[in-house]
Amino acid sequence: MPQHQIAVIVGSLRRDSFNRKLAPPEFSFVNIEIGHLPLYNQDNDGTPPDSIKRLKAEIAASAGLLFVTPEYNRSVPGVLKNAIDHASRPYGQNAWAGKPAGVLGVSVGPIGTAVAQQHLRNILAYLDVPTLGQPEVFLQATEELFDDTGSIGPASRQFLQGWMDKYVAWVKDYAA
Ligand SMILES: Cc1cc2nc3c(=O)[nH]c(=O)nc-3n(C[C@H](O)[C@H](O)[C@H](O)COP(=O)(O)O)c2cc1C
Repeated sequence: MPQHQIAVIVGSLRRDSFNRKLAPPEFSFVNIEIGHLPLYNQDNDGTPPDSIKRLKAEIAASAGLLFVTPEYNRSVPGVLKNAIDHASRPYGQNAWAGKPAGVLGVSVGPIGTAVAQQHLRNILAYLDVPTLGQPEVFLQATEELFDDTGSIGPASRQFLQGWMDKYVAWVKDYAA
């Protein structure tokens, strides 16, 4: 395990997801897949399937969390909320607690996931997850956002790199 492993949780299952492109590909960032998880059912708290045990183990192994999410109907996508609910239970065994989290998002709308991020921050506050406050990252999926190779285009690269540098330093402070 890299010294500061970051668990990346993407709130979109779409093949060509803009948000998936934002998630950094570096070695120490581990993508947590959430699309195959069953719908949360509290009846199964005592007998979680392997997929949920794995989800919670991946979170436990991480020094930090990075949520990259679109906005669905002015909130977080259900698939992301489902994963959050799963790892928060059974009561008293919340895997997210205490893990420092960054929140990013891109949507086609001009407010760039601002409402979804605010909802997500409320959920994370309840789950005892500290979040990096500034700078906020509200991205709109315009033609300039990505270049021809699907990487972040020059207009946003410096801003996102600056955000990432601050986030990584913040997570390291937590781990110290
Ligand atoms: C069910 C649904 C609800 C959506 N609601 C919003 C919304 O509230 N605000 C917004 O800016 N875009 C909304 N969109 C458009 C998304 O920004 C767009 O589909 C975006 O590409 C999703 O991110 P992705 O590319 O990572 O999948 C919605 C899309 C879907 C499918």
